[in-house]
Amino acid sequence: MEVRFTETVLRDGNQSLMATRMPASDYEAILDRMDEAGYYSVECWGGATFDSCLRFLNEDPWERLRLLRGHFRNTRLQMLLRGQNLLGYKHYPDDIVRMFIAKAVENGIDIIRVFDALNDPANLETAVDEIKLRGAEAQGTVCYTRSPIHTLEKYAELARQLRDMGCDSICIKDMAGIMTPGDAYDLVSLFREETQLPISVHVHCTTGIAPLTLVKAVEAGADRVDTAISSFAGGTSQFATESLAYGLEDLGYNTGLDFNALNEINEFFRPLKKKAIEKGLTSIYVMGTETNALTYQVPGGMLSNLQANLRDMGASDRLQEVLEEIPRVRADMGYPPLVTPSSQITGGQAVSNVLTGERYKIVSKEMKAYFNGEYGHAPGQINEEIQRKVLRGKEPITCRPADLLEPGYEKAKEKIGSLARCEEDVLSYALFPQSAREFLEKREIREVMEQFPASAKKVAAEWVKEEK
Ligand code: CO
Repeated sequence: MEVRFTETVLRDGNQSLMATRMPASDYEAILDRMDEAGYYSVECWGGATFDSCLRFLNEDPWERLRLLRGHFRNTRLQMLLRGQNLLGYKHYPDDIVRMFIAKAVENGIDIIRVFDALNDPANLETAVDEIKLRGAEAQGTVCYTRSPIHTLEKYAELARQLRDMGCDSICIKDMAGIMTPGDAYDLVSLFREETQLPISVHVHCTTGIAPLTLVKAVEAGADRVDTAISSFAGGTSQFATESLAYGLEDLGYNTGLDFNALNEINEFFRPLKKKAIEKGLTSIYVMGTETNALTYQVPGGMLSNLQANLRDMGASDRLQEVLEEIPRVRADMGYPPLVTPSSQITGGQAVSNVLTGERYKIVSKEMKAYFNGEYGHAPGQINEEIQRKVLRGKEPITCRPADLLEPGYEKAKEKIGSLARCEEDVLSYALFPQSAREFLEKREIREVMEQFPASAKKVAAEWVKEEK
């Protein structure tokens, strides 16, 4: 019996525990050792890392990828991609999606895990097609959620759609950490039977149930599990690599992991966590166990946002009513999984419905866009009466949202002009216009200054720092 590990410390661990603020220079020294640990893959790019490189770290995300590739000679590099949203928060035109994936693979990515917040297959199609064209592994994702319509049959249908689309493997992704051991067992068994594809399981420790869920997933035949090295594990991150590997080896599974290497990797990352705590990038709150999400059926992050919003409005005493309104709003919306952005949209609407005393009296721009079909198809039936009220009689779109977008690459190239020196620069700009432009401008300044003598350079360095 074999089960393989995907190490998440460089991406999800970094993102969940330290707001994605770990620069590559902090961990470069351990990468060669990580390459020897026996991981199936290392999740190291995508998600929020790209945005964070440009916006906070003054680091070129493409250069980071090439650096990773240079060190990981034997281990597959894995990234997380939000389907048609790529690494951003809106739909991008197909030409940008295709070009971005082509460049990600060209610069070293082996596996692309692609998901859509609504589990709408139409939002994954272009990305999966391009991943296959470029010869990388396309890992289709089923976002786990609980609702009256999310039956095993509904999930099986999704898994079959991913298989038919050409996905090479399937990920069950539980971002809120609310997947029960029983559900994990059923879903993994079902997906294996329905698709015959390798199954990856991605869970977070937020509610503390993760290790039970992982063990049952492996018992059901999961091929790969996501974990984070122990100093970056637990809380809102993944379960610990060493602990799960140790336990599974005891149960007779071969993990292929080298425990001496794992130990060294952990010793390396431990001080980085300490540094993050000292800098205020992380807190004990994201590291603990928060079981509320299991009872309230809303993700932990969403719950704390609601509490904070209500407190700001002097309405803390209305929390219970809001928590009761959320399932009703969610039902009106056709039961979207509660992840970004649908969790914010749903929560905001529930608050407004309760505080105004009239349902859908006030509706956010995002909620209008949702009911207008701009995020894609809802998993279930949308409440048409509410939809009409919100859209004021306007017909919603029924096509794939990206079908309405003009090609964007040439336009982006023109706009950023000579600041972009390669296609990768243009793509950074197309995804994050403001932070990419600032990054590229700083690069120009830095390089001009480098031609000056050391004394001038020192002044210039100070100046660039202040610009931040
Ligand atoms: Co995650």
